[in-house]
Amino acid sequence: MDKIVFIGAGSMAEAIINGLTKEEKISPEHIHVTNKSDVEQLQQLKKTYNIQIVCEEKKALKEAEIVFLAMKPKDAKDAMIEIAPYLSSSATIISVIAGVTIQTITNYLGSRPIARVMPNTSAAVGLSASAVSWNKLISEEAKLKIINILESIGTVQAVEEEDLHVVTALAGSGPAYIYYFAEHFEAAAISHGLSKEDARQLFIQTMEGAAQMLKKGDVEPQELRRKVTSPGGTTEAGVEQLIQHNVKDAIFACIDAAQNRSREFAKQYE
Ligand SMILES: NC(=O)c1ccc[n+]([C@@H]2O[C@H](COP(=O)([O-])OP(=O)(O)OC[C@H]3O[C@@H](n4cnc5c(N)ncnc54)[C@H](OP(=O)(O)O)[C@@H]3O)[C@@H](O)[C@H]2O)c1
Repeated sequence: MDKIVFIGAGSMAEAIINGLTKEEKISPEHIHVTNKSDVEQLQQLKKTYNIQIVCEEKKALKEAEIVFLAMKPKDAKDAMIEIAPYLSSSATIISVIAGVTIQTITNYLGSRPIARVMPNTSAAVGLSASAVSWNKLISEEAKLKIINILESIGTVQAVEEEDLHVVTALAGSGPAYIYYFAEHFEAAAISHGLSKEDARQLFIQTMEGAAQMLKKGDVEPQELRRKVTSPGGTTEAGVEQLIQHNVKDAIFACIDAAQNRSREFAKQYE
């Protein structure tokens, strides 16, 4: 059984640990976790998931087959410098750190199998839309293992590393866009007399229903939209406003700005 060590014990590490233990993909005794200084958080994780706290970094890292990097980008350099001397030559690195490239990780941790993952916050409920990209040193077997691990927090697409910028813009930041829509569709419905509870429930169910229709995959979104838009009807009146207010342009600008910011971060953390 592979031994996994998490460097960083924050919300993303916890979401993955939660998924792994819930789906019993790996026995908790093989999951080890460490962080910078928050001992209480480590105790909490141990209590909740029955996993191991790394007491002696050197030993845990030497024996680790998979090492997750799960700290903020600003802490990545220090963390990598700290762990580098202890990693075994066969250890695979899986980084969830936004903006830190495989090349940068290689610079600090040496030439070895490295995967970069962009999950999103829905990992907390097992519904992350994640993407992964890896270097050439990752074996086919390791790829399957990584996908299996990531599927415990949702879905996963394998993409080119360059595409992680647009993945970040679409899926990494995506939940916030949906919450923005929820906020304003709800507020608009409330302004016409609906209760907050009803507005919330109706919006959630509308999103879920539409998502399921899209998920079936046999009909393009444009066609689904056309089918619910009868000429002169209410949907047409509503959609017409979205068109007049250039919502499409706003969406393109949103993705453009987010992926540009991701590129800036990557440069900053080189
Ligand atoms: N949250 C998300 O939805 C999301 C989505 C996509 C990507 N990510 C990426 O996931 C990474 C982690 O995010 P997060 O939200 O989980 O952050 P977080 O909750 O702030 O957790 C960061 C963790 O890193 C630890 N840490 C910092 N420096 C360290 C060091 N030198 N050695 C060992 N551990 C160290 C911290 O320990 P202390 O608490 O002791 O300081 C803490 O446990 C980020 O790079 C982020 O870009 C997050």
